[in-house]
Amino acid sequence: MTQLLDFLNAHADGAPISFHMPGHKGMAVFQRFGYEGFFRQLADKDITEIPGADNLYVCGGVLGALARRYAALYGVPKSWLLVNGSTAGILAAVLAAVPRGGKLILAGNSHKSVHSAVRLGGIRPVEVATQPHEIPGAERIAYAYAQAGYSPAGAVAPEEVERLAQAHPDASAVILASPNYFGVCSDIAGIARVCRSAGMSLIVDQAHGAHLKFFGDHGIEGFPPAAEGQGADLVVNSTHKTLASFTQSAVLNLCTDRVDPAKIEDALGLVQSTSPSYLLLASLDLNARLIEGHGDVLFREWADNLALLRPFALRADDPTKLLIDCRAFGRTGAETERMLNERHRIFPELSAGDLLLCMTGIGGTRAHYESLRAALESFC
Ligand SMILES: Cc1ncc(COP(=O)(O)O)c(C=O)c1O
Repeated sequence: MTQLLDFLNAHADGAPISFHMPGHKGMAVFQRFGYEGFFRQLADKDITEIPGADNLYVCGGVLGALARRYAALYGVPKSWLLVNGSTAGILAAVLAAVPRGGKLILAGNSHKSVHSAVRLGGIRPVEVATQPHEIPGAERIAYAYAQAGYSPAGAVAPEEVERLAQAHPDASAVILASPNYFGVCSDIAGIARVCRSAGMSLIVDQAHGAHLKFFGDHGIEGFPPAAEGQGADLVVNSTHKTLASFTQSAVLNLCTDRVDPAKIEDALGLVQSTSPSYLLLASLDLNARLIEGHGDVLFREWADNLALLRPFALRADDPTKLLIDCRAFGRTGAETERMLNERHRIFPELSAGDLLLCMTGIGGTRAHYESLRAALESFC
């Protein structure tokens, strides 16, 4: 039986091309901008709360400074660094915004963590239906969802949220994912207006959209706006999924004064480890440095690289999600995925039904995109 270390070493030695999470896509992006030094003496940097290292839960030193850099990057009053993924951010946001036993309006396709928050908080859920897809290939996306164990999920309409808010005026908050796992976005500004007039908080699960703010900041068109600027109260970002921090690191943003930060801090203490990994936290610093120092280059290149795959991808609201219709190759998604793995050492995020989902990220190189394109062309 192969041991984990042997598997990982062999995988890395085989020069894999990642079109799956996390978004850093390996060492190249760190080397390119001179951060490989961080990876030396890695074990010596795996520390605990020694003098000078601050404390994640009472942070006034280096961790507090990093959280403030994230608040500046996202243009929000306050950010929290997370070490248990967006999962922890969603749990904390819901537990802070909805009193025990209260009501929460949630999208039908919500992530497991939303349902976990419902259980933990004894919350009464009210499910808002998602719209059918209106994009080409919609029926195949719905099918792919079902294959992947998700409920079919298009966008959430503001009118539908409004209808439920009127029927349940005692609900405290609304939560939905935008973009969702397949890159479908909802009208956050419209939903925020509904929430505001109903006196409810809006929590956006932006686990898959941590990058959106920065495409906007660099004036790159063709990307949906980030929820932080659309009237959401709380936004949860998996910086690890599409940006350059390590798996499990994430950021929770408080965008308004409509949720009590003390309640969020209390909830974060309940759901996160008391031994936060300094390696994960350090990776959030690396990610911030890449965005602050090199964002202009990285986001422009990312957009240019996506254009290379456009002929093969269905249109998604968030174009960083490459949804590839494998019927063009006369194969299922799973068959295409196997061929990419075995012949090309390319590893997509997911196959389902006729579809292949290739997730791109800040660290993808031009050569990665060229390899994927050449491989897909060879299947036609
Ligand atoms: C829509 C959505 N929300 C939240 C999460 C949880 O994010 P994390 O893996 O950072 O805990 C996921 C994970 O895949 C997700 O797909």
